[in-house]
Amino acid sequence: MSVKLAIYPGSFDPVTNGHIDIIVRGLKIFDRIIVGILNNPGKDPLFSVDERKAMLQASLKGITGIEIDTFDGLLVDYALHRGAQAILRGMRAVSDFEYEFQMALMNRRLNREIQTVFLMTGLRWIFTSSSIIKEAAQFGGNITGMVPKVVNQQLRNKFAPVSNSH
Ligand code: COA
Repeated sequence: MSVKLAIYPGSFDPVTNGHIDIIVRGLKIFDRIIVGILNNPGKDPLFSVDERKAMLQASLKGITGIEIDTFDGLLVDYALHRGAQAILRGMRAVSDFEYEFQMALMNRRLNREIQTVFLMTGLRWIFTSSSIIKEAAQFGGNITGMVPKVVNQQLRNKFAPVSNSH
């Protein structure tokens, strides 16, 4: 029997509970999911790829069928290289649609063998994004329940006020 494998790509700077929701629900469709962290130096991330990978690993600990990996270059090339049949994406709101549609069509143009599968993001996460969570955390907002515990802690560490000793 063939194993159904999907790539769930993204920046994950950092991973949120919205991403975790998509991964957990994706596992009801796919046998295995590779979470592919895009190594994109142009995006000026808050967390390094290694930090993002470690947070994903801690957040998904105990869930079987998951691998965390990094990639650069074209997503369809990476999917092909990993033997995946599908790209998994979450769709939050109508505002996501145009970008996702464009990307899915481009990816199909680049490789017709790889299908893009969309899952609607859970209602609880419809308004979240990594940037908005980072912004709230930066100014001391309470983001409990929006991100895994380990991410909450890492954000606190990043934005901890530097003590001024004079
Ligand atoms: N819950 C909460 N937030 C979510 C979410 C969910 N379920 N799904 C996405 N988001 C948020 C992310 O946190 C991110 O927020 P931010 O912009 O504030 O950081 C935003 O939605 C979109 O990010 P992400 O899903 O990580 O996608 P991306 O746009 O950063 O990257 C890739 C998309 C990696 C798939 C795409 O850039 C890619 O494939 N690159 C490789 C190059 C390539 O092949 N290009 C050709 C494709 S046409």
